Amino acid sequence: MVRFSFTSALSRAALLFIYATGALADLSSDLAALNFQVLVPGNSGYASASAAFNRRFTFQPAAVFFPKTAQDVSSAMKLGVKYGFQVVSRSGGHSYIANGLGGKSGSFVVDMRNFNAVSVDANTHIATIGPGNRLGDVALALNSAGRAMPHGTCPYVGIGGHSGHGGYGFTSRKWGLTLDTVQSLEVVLTDGSIVTASGTSNSDLFWALRGASSSFGIVTSIHANTFAAPSSTTIFEYNWDLTAAAAASALTAFQNFVNGPSLPQEFAGELVLGSGSSKGRVSFGLTGGWYGPANQYAAVIAPFLATVPTPQSKKLTVGTYIASVQYLGGLGRLNTTTIPDSTDTFYAKSLMTPPLVSAQGTAFMNYLASQGFGTNTDWFVEVELYGGTNSAINNVASDATAFANRNSTWTIQFYTSAPNGVPPFPSAGFTLLDGMVNSIVNNSPAGWTYGAYANYIDDRLTNWQHLYYGANYPRLQSLKDQYDPNDVVNFPLAIEE
Ligand SMILES: Cc1cc2nc3c(=O)[nH]c(=O)nc-3n(C[C@H](O)[C@H](O)[C@H](O)COP(=O)(O)OP(=O)(O)OC[C@H]3O[C@@H](n4cnc5c(N)ncnc54)[C@H](O)[C@@H]3O)c2cc1C
Ligand SMILES: *[C@@H]1O[C@H](CO)[C@@H](O)[C@H](O)[C@H]1NC(C)=O
Ligand SMILES: *[C@@H]1O[C@H](CO)[C@@H](O)[C@H](O)[C@H]1NC(C)=O
Repeated sequence: MVRFSFTSALSRAALLFIYATGALADLSSDLAALNFQVLVPGNSGYASASAAFNRRFTFQPAAVFFPKTAQDVSSAMKLGVKYGFQVVSRSGGHSYIANGLGGKSGSFVVDMRNFNAVSVDANTHIATIGPGNRLGDVALALNSAGRAMPHGTCPYVGIGGHSGHGGYGFTSRKWGLTLDTVQSLEVVLTDGSIVTASGTSNSDLFWALRGASSSFGIVTSIHANTFAAPSSTTIFEYNWDLTAAAAASALTAFQNFVNGPSLPQEFAGELVLGSGSSKGRVSFGLTGGWYGPANQYAAVIAPFLATVPTPQSKKLTVGTYIASVQYLGGLGRLNTTTIPDSTDTFYAKSLMTPPLVSAQGTAFMNYLASQGFGTNTDWFVEVELYGGTNSAINNVASDATAFANRNSTWTIQFYTSAPNGVPPFPSAGFTLLDGMVNSIVNNSPAGWTYGAYANYIDDRLTNWQHLYYGANYPRLQSLKDQYDPNDVVNFPLAIEE
């Protein structure tokens, strides 16, 4: 029996509708008639079902649904439409701004956790993946069939949101983004219909779902290409403590290296920047993966190491593919089913850029070495290699999918957490990250173009339509108008009509 209580959680529009029509009893009985679990304010379990990964946000959904089938998702969608609620889906719940909870109070949240099967077709090697799976569990399940796919490192990130807006990991230079592997999707549209989107069926919807999926419906099944797991992986980690000037030079050296004529696709990496040992210095790390034969690695990295100071520390970890996924995940396990997710209280920004010119690198490192020292929030910057010679990410046309920023060399993530990762989040954290981004953008040469990464979604970003979707935005708007004319699926930074 579902008890429905009045709370400030309900959206104003929905409340007015319910008062005006006396529909509350109807909603309550409609919810109670569902043959799957739904939690509303006041139910036990509602509080934990409404908690955001990023504790900077607290929202009260009007209801949290736990469907088991696409038909159930359709039922939840239709109830949202009937009673005037906005409907969003949550897969892993790792949205940076809690958009899996609607990014505000009063939404219907369709939690996809029961969509957790993974299978691999023995002939085509196409995987069928429930969107509620977490990346660690996907990696384990694919690996048991000898297969793998490109995806991010954190085991608890959901494949649902991740594959809908990008999906970057160290194998992406070779295999592309997670969304590039998608062959077809089953999706529940806002009229409640359950449709297939692929290159041959609803192909315009398929285009939109690969880059902006959250705005178009609820994906209930993902069919994706897989790859033979590499037979050997080498994870490398180097660290330096450098003056700002030396850090800027090392950045230039890495840029020159990754754009060298012969960099193999099997090489991938990111620079990890942090607070240095004293004011004026920067912690400069290089972490990445080499997915070719281990005995070739030293020759691949040698030209870079020849152009930078001797690292203060270095570590090579050679092993199986799945061991590398677990190692990069940082938790000592990939299976997420037994231990609950953690939380953080954080703010993050991103830039997707061509190579930085020296004025930008210098200003950026100077900023990190000065304003970045002794801050009251913890921070790091990851300069992720999307491009470089012959990157599979770059080899896709910018209008082939909704994911527009295909020509980027870097995706730079700027991330800062409240002390101990718990609220309150100090406002100085916003200022710190704005300054980091500005040190790059304000020193850009004429004609320098940049974007931002929708999986690192930033609610304080202005001009996000252009930065996330570039020239693809107008087409996304017209498809939003076509597929969701009444804006049922809506949340901060959703595609507008
Ligand atoms: C600790 C951490 C590490 C990360 N590491 C990486 C990384 O290495 N590489 C990288 O590329 N990204 C990384 N990310 C970013 C991550 O890719 C995004 O946050 C991603 O969108 C999370 O997906 P989710 O399903 O967990 O989130 P959710 O909050 O569930 O969903 C995110 C968005 O997608 C929508 N959505 C969810 N499920 C569906 C569905 N089934 N159908 C349609 N829309 C849906 C939601 O409504 C929401 O708008 C990381 C994030 C965190 C918090
Ligand atoms: C994770 O662990 C659970 C419990 O031991 C098990 O049932 C499940 O199959 C494991 N998942 C994967 C993907 O290996
Ligand atoms: C892609 O980026 C490179 C710099 O990395 C630039 O030289 C080139 O003009 C860009 N191409 C397009 C099509 O924007």
